[in-house]
Amino acid sequence: MTKLFERLRGSRIGLGLAALGRPGYINLGHAEDLERRYDVDVMRTRAHAVLDRAWQGGVRYFDVARSYGRAEEFLASWLAARSIAPSQVVVGSKWGYAYTAGWKTSAETHEVKEHSLARLSQQIAESRALLGAHLDLYQIHSATPSSGVLENREVLERLFELRREGLPIGLTVTGPEQAKTVRRAFEVTVEGERVFDCVQATWNLLEPSVGPALAEAHAAGLGVIVKEPLANGRLTERNRQPRFAAKRQRLEHAARGLGVGIDAIALAAVLAEPWADVVLSGAASVEQLSSNLAASALRLDGALRRELATLAEPAEDYWQTRAALAWN
Ligand SMILES: NC(=O)c1ccc[n+]([C@@H]2O[C@H](COP(=O)([O-])OP(=O)(O)OC[C@H]3O[C@@H](n4cnc5c(N)ncnc54)[C@H](OP(=O)(O)O)[C@@H]3O)[C@@H](O)[C@H]2O)c1
Repeated sequence: MTKLFERLRGSRIGLGLAALGRPGYINLGHAEDLERRYDVDVMRTRAHAVLDRAWQGGVRYFDVARSYGRAEEFLASWLAARSIAPSQVVVGSKWGYAYTAGWKTSAETHEVKEHSLARLSQQIAESRALLGAHLDLYQIHSATPSSGVLENREVLERLFELRREGLPIGLTVTGPEQAKTVRRAFEVTVEGERVFDCVQATWNLLEPSVGPALAEAHAAGLGVIVKEPLANGRLTERNRQPRFAAKRQRLEHAARGLGVGIDAIALAAVLAEPWADVVLSGAASVEQLSSNLAASALRLDGALRRELATLAEPAEDYWQTRAALAWN
């Protein structure tokens, strides 16, 4: 395990605040989860309640981004209100997307990506102003082969400088070519040293294609964070789509046998992977988080893991479906 995660003391479920920091998100039932109540104070109180439940459940990794609306601010105000010292948690944030939704669910553009040096310089200053000494990991948000950021020398050199100053650097990846981007990240060096300490990728029962590349990353000493373990809510009770019905029945059967929800089974499948250091819950409510946390106590046997492995869909199909999810 990388030094970065030693502070977690084996607590492998983290909390991502993408669904808690802003009114709009792509997860299936986001508007219902938030009860369509978007007042900033209401949203801050909700975020703090979920953070309290996380803390009580042993969660010590928290994941935010500049583009998650007020997520960094909500996290910072909670850390201050509960007097949680930097040494007690690990906080990762991201740069590269700007939040452009204007606190609306129906904005024309919710976020705009730009992997330039100017954006990095602006956003690291903003993240530091909010998170101060709590910021432990700074990640490129959604690197892809076409984003070109892993070839942008001025950005890589600035990231390397931040790393030399003591801030671990990561990248998050997305899309059907995640594995290619992860492997490319190992090769990126400045002055002969690797730039990246950590990689965050989407791995779940429907889209496990990045698994072998993450195993290589882990073996090479990088930290591995898994995002979207529930496929944006598609691997939960909420997914009533007819084409998911057969898979859902199989998941429900396994869940009944273990006395948990299907979300806990999907999360436990990530925890069963030895290369996964941290898996992010994206819970939008205390109830969802409680259900997600049941995964920590589950041990899936070999037969069930083999059965769950048959739920995967072709990566291209998965990412096409994801791209069509509606902001709500
Ligand atoms: N490119 C990137 O860097 C990137 C991209 C995506 C995510 N992330 C990170 O990963 C974190 C997790 O991603 P994610 O939110 O997509 O995770 P996810 O685990 O795939 O989906 C979480 C969603 O599943 C639903 N859910 C969870 N538990 C449930 C339950 N018990 N019953 C019913 N529904 C339940 C909720 O959505 P609904 O209730 O709305 O259906 C919840 O918001 C984010 O917060 C963020 O930190 C990073």
